[in-house]
Order: sequence, then C-alpha cells, then structure tokens
Amino acid sequence: MTISRTTTYSQVLEGDCLEYFSKGSISDIHLTFLDPPYRQGKEYRFFDDNQSDDTYWAWLVQILSEVYKATVEGGAIYFMQREKNAEQVLKLLRETGWTFQNLIIWKKKTSAVPSEFRFSKQHQIIAYATKGYKPRVFNKLRIDLPLLPEYKYERTNGVYVTDIWDDIRELTSGYFAGDEALRDSKGNRVHTQQSPVALLLRIILSSTLSGDTVFDPLAGTGTTLIVAHQLMRNSIGIEIDPEHVRISKMRLKSLRPADSVLHYYTYYSFTPNLKEIWPVEEATISEQGRLFDV
Ligand SMILES: C[S@@+](CC[C@H](N)C(=O)[O-])C[C@H]1O[C@@H](n2cnc3c(N)ncnc32)[C@H](O)[C@@H]1O
Repeated sequence: MTISRTTTYSQVLEGDCLEYFSKGSISDIHLTFLDPPYRQGKEYRFFDDNQSDDTYWAWLVQILSEVYKATVEGGAIYFMQREKNAEQVLKLLRETGWTFQNLIIWKKKTSAVPSEFRFSKQHQIIAYATKGYKPRVFNKLRIDLPLLPEYKYERTNGVYVTDIWDDIRELTSGYFAGDEALRDSKGNRVHTQQSPVALLLRIILSSTLSGDTVFDPLAGTGTTLIVAHQLMRNSIGIEIDPEHVRISKMRLKSLRPADSVLHYYTYYSFTPNLKEIWPVEEATISEQGRLFDV
C-alpha cells in the first residue's frame, strides 16, 4: 500500500493514559514521546503537580512499563525531564526494561537565574532508549548548521545531529515564544509546557519511517500528533484535560502556519535518505482539510 496522509491516522483519546493501557487499547507502537508534568507546582487541572516524590516516580514507572509492553521490538522512547532528574530517569528506564542509547541535552537559548550555590541551568534532558539492544530505525540526520566564527572552512554538506541540541528554541520564554505558542484571547499561553514542533520533528524523523505509529501518552496540546501527521506517520495521543484535547483536535483540523514543519526542510536537506523519510507533497498544507479520526 502507498502511504499517504489519507491512509495514515491521528487519534486523540481523552482520559487517563493508564486506563487506556489497562483496556489493552494501545499496541504496535514504534516511537513514544514522553513529556510528563515535572512536579514543579504548576497549575494543571487534572494533575497534582505537588505530589510526593515517591508517588510521582511510581506513576512514571507504570507508564514506562506499559509503553514498553505496547512497543514493537526495536521501537524507541524519548523521555524528557528536568536536568536534575537525570539519575531517576536512567534508573527508571533500566528498571522497566528499556535499553539506554543517549542522554540528549536540549540546550535552551536562555538560562535561569543562578541559585546561591549552583550554576544557572540552561538545558533539559531527553533520554533516548529502545526496546532491545538495537533500534529498528535510526536515521542519521544532517543539518545545515551555520558555521561558527572559529571554523576556517565552509561546510558543503552540513553536519550530523549529535546528542547536544542547541538549535531548537523553547516556547517557554516570552521573548522566544513567537507565533507557535498557543494563546487565549487575552494573550496568555494556553499550555505552558507546549513543546516546539522542531523538537518533535527531530525525534520523529530520527526514529521512524513513514507509516509507523507514534505515541504520546501525555499529549498536552497535541504537538507530537501534529508533526507525525505532516510526516505521514500514524499517531495516538492521550490527554486527560478535555480543554487540551479540544485544542489538539483544532490544531489537527486546521494546521496553523506556525505548526508547519516545512520551514525546516532545507535545514535537513543534507540528510542522505531525507526524501524517503520525509515525504513532501506538492499540495499546500492549508489544503489538507480534516486531519484526525475520533
Ligand atoms: C508536560 S504536558 C505535555 C505537553 C505536550 N508535550 C505539548 O506539546 O503540549 C503533560 C500533559 O499530561 C497531561 N496528563 C497528566 N496526567 C495524565 C494522565 N494520567 N493521562 C493523560 N494525560 C495526563 C496533562 O494534562 C498535561 O497536558
């Protein structure tokens, strides 16, 4: 079968992800993006962001174990967390069966104010792990990074993406948030943890092929699904807050220019198999129409 946007699906499920797992609704997953609330005391309507350490990590162990069961052999997980939790993240992945591959440093453009006795923090971690020793897919992406002043020669074919990602801007700082950050009529951000499409683009391009199924058990505003759809991957997202579910569906139904990944195509153009892993249709994105199945 030829894979096209009409033969792939994007499914937004409303409710508690653990309930969907216990019903056996999730299976044959090729890639998961796991971006939980960070227990920073933020105001979530359906999540206690002040819960105890033990309760929080036990909850994540359950999710990691269920995702592991639902993942095909060689499938991947990208688990994003605060840098101070790196030790827990690696421990939990190991205990739930995953094979650790990389600790990606997502270097932010701005830094936090330093504490009295620590350096200011300027990165977040993303642990990349697989089910089994080797990934079934790992596409070696090349990017057209601008030449640094200390480099002597112009590059003719870009550079490989490494485990330091310093070229993806976060949406959390007012100055950098730009058009991509979703806002209400008063200009307030509708979800302070919204991930950038550029981050999901890199993850999905690295670890899947067209027609694969991408999963996000804590889907928030649906960024994972929006990117997966544009890359002709199937996607399933679960979100407990009905308002976030509504926003995800709106984003999928009518793609905003700020959510388009096409802006980044040239940046990745030195990737040897780019045409194969990133099908680009001639039709413009705004003509795509309805993008999700419910
Ligand atoms: C950090 S946010 C994810 C943000 C997302 N990456 C985005 O781009 O919008 C985590 C999300 O998990 C949701 N959540 C919390 N507990 C959940 C549960 N048990 N099942 C499903 N979703 C849950 C929260 O409502 C929140 O929207």
